[in-house]
Amino acid sequence: RPRIGILTAGGDCPGLNAVIRGVVKSAYRMGFETLGFEGGFEGLVAPVRCRQLTPQNTSGILTLGGTILGSTNRGRFGVTVGIDQKLSLPQPLIDAVRQTFQEMGMQGLICVGGDGSLSIALELHRAGLPVVGVPKTIDNDLSCTAFTFGFDSAVNCATDALDRLHTTASSHDRVMVLEVMGRHAGWIALHAGIAGGADVILIPEIPWTYEGIIAKIEDRRRMGKNFTLVVVAEGAALPEGVTVAQETIQTDRQTLLGGIGAEIAERLLPQIDQEIRCVVLGHLQRGGGPTNFDRVLATQLGAHAVRLIIQRRFGEMVCYQPPQIDSVTIAEAVGELRRVPPDSSTVAAARAMGISFGDSLE
Ligand code: F6P
Repeated sequence: RPRIGILTAGGDCPGLNAVIRGVVKSAYRMGFETLGFEGGFEGLVAPVRCRQLTPQNTSGILTLGGTILGSTNRGRFGVTVGIDQKLSLPQPLIDAVRQTFQEMGMQGLICVGGDGSLSIALELHRAGLPVVGVPKTIDNDLSCTAFTFGFDSAVNCATDALDRLHTTASSHDRVMVLEVMGRHAGWIALHAGIAGGADVILIPEIPWTYEGIIAKIEDRRRMGKNFTLVVVAEGAALPEGVTVAQETIQTDRQTLLGGIGAEIAERLLPQIDQEIRCVVLGHLQRGGGPTNFDRVLATQLGAHAVRLIIQRRFGEMVCYQPPQIDSVTIAEAVGELRRVPPDSSTVAAARAMGISFGDSLE
């Protein structure tokens, strides 16, 4: 049987195993054997770490969180790409990958990753290697695809947290601040905020102020609602004149420690006559199994990636452009992150529900 390879790179997310299974099953039916490389791109170079994946040994992984192949967003391929950084792989590393392709007799490699990992896939493609991409991230911030798998699962987790915070907040007449992930984008906060009935949503794309939050809390109290749910995206910039570069540093720090939620809680406390608590949801959003939506999306993307390899459409990335599963060039997809348009219909719907974005618009 001819061979294709697959690897999962960058931060994990629910649905990776569904893609792996989708690839292995459809490749098998098309007469291909699949090799799974372990630990992201690291598995491609000495000491090469890979194993044969079969419909039998990938059976039952559809619903499993994480990735059976392992992943890394560190290491020799330096997948820690900030939005301002440019990648350039050292030639010896590219040569080592080429050697692995030859030794393993691989017809193509499917790289499942986010913006940083797909940039690496693009470099390998430009060096003449036959790769195709599959987009993944809980942040939903990749261009050219309406949704990435992992996002729906993360939103589900954040929504569940808001549902739980709702009951305790209302019992104690408290303000609850929930900090969610999303890196430089506010998609998780926006969608979970709407789904979980938050009162205030703070995202990096819409400048907000403490006065804006306080106005909403007071407004609610005047209406007899003595509790308020605030959901804040980890990348939500500090309100006063923060530059994109500072925001990048702040977001990386956030990844380690959390922080914007606690900072908001601390700053609000002396200004409101109410108790306040903060919860950082963190990696709970990335753990656990995928939702039904993510299972279906991931399966479709995996099957389509195999089709791209068979059609020798290298350098392309599968994508979801409802109602179609389609493909674009990886070059089109990486580089520019997709952020929440402040004038989007989703933001407008939230505002129509009376949700405040901490700005002066209601
Ligand atoms: O990109 C996914 C994401 O979970 C972001 O939301 C978050 O900022 C970051 O990865 C956390 O990364 P790490 O795996 O380094 O903790």
